[in-house]
Amino acid sequence: MTGEQKFRVGVLGSGKGTNLCAIAAGCAAGKIPGEVALVLSDVPDAGILERARQRGIPARFIGPGKFRTKLDDEAEQTFVQVLRQARVDLIALAGFMRVLKGDFLRAFDGRIVNIHPSLLPSFPGLEAWKQALDYGVKMTGCTVHFVDAGVDSGPIIAQRTVPVLDGDSPESLHARIQAAEHELYPETVAALARGQIAVRGRQVVGVMGENSLCG
Ligand code: GRF
Repeated sequence: MTGEQKFRVGVLGSGKGTNLCAIAAGCAAGKIPGEVALVLSDVPDAGILERARQRGIPARFIGPGKFRTKLDDEAEQTFVQVLRQARVDLIALAGFMRVLKGDFLRAFDGRIVNIHPSLLPSFPGLEAWKQALDYGVKMTGCTVHFVDAGVDSGPIIAQRTVPVLDGDSPESLHARIQAAEHELYPETVAALARGQIAVRGRQVVGVMGENSLCG
């Protein structure tokens, strides 16, 4: 990435968009050497679209098609086309509630990341904070990982731990995890933008200087 050419991040989400805000704030503060080029959502009234527009970031709803948990072929092609036109270098999933399949993954091979609200491989899937609370773990956290065809199963890039406290409700634990996400995701996107992350199979090696992405 040259000085004039900014690293371009496309963010996909179906929900509130608090992680989008954290990434956009990281860009605005110069902590991420890049910009959020585009936000896409499969939910027409998702908060993430509104939050993007408030920040002057191009934001667009794309209908997901007939399936509940994945994009249909036409929708997938539209997502890929729009992201290519926006010349994104990285796709950051932030609460995007659909599994991505072959053509999408091949189009952006090794350039799609996700944040998940648990210490993977524990508690993949929905409401991971509630799964952790129900299981009785004393420590949970969040994970940024590369996206593959599975559910929350790709190579792990970075993790941050969060304690489970006596008396936690699902809401209080989720809020504590989200606060950790808002630090970890921008830090990880910054490391990716700087070319400080290398992948060999499942092993993700950080060339992180002083800032560790774990802890
Ligand atoms: C985050 O908690 C993330 O871990 C999960 O979806 C949530 C998205 O939240 N994958 P937001 O839309 O960024 O507020």
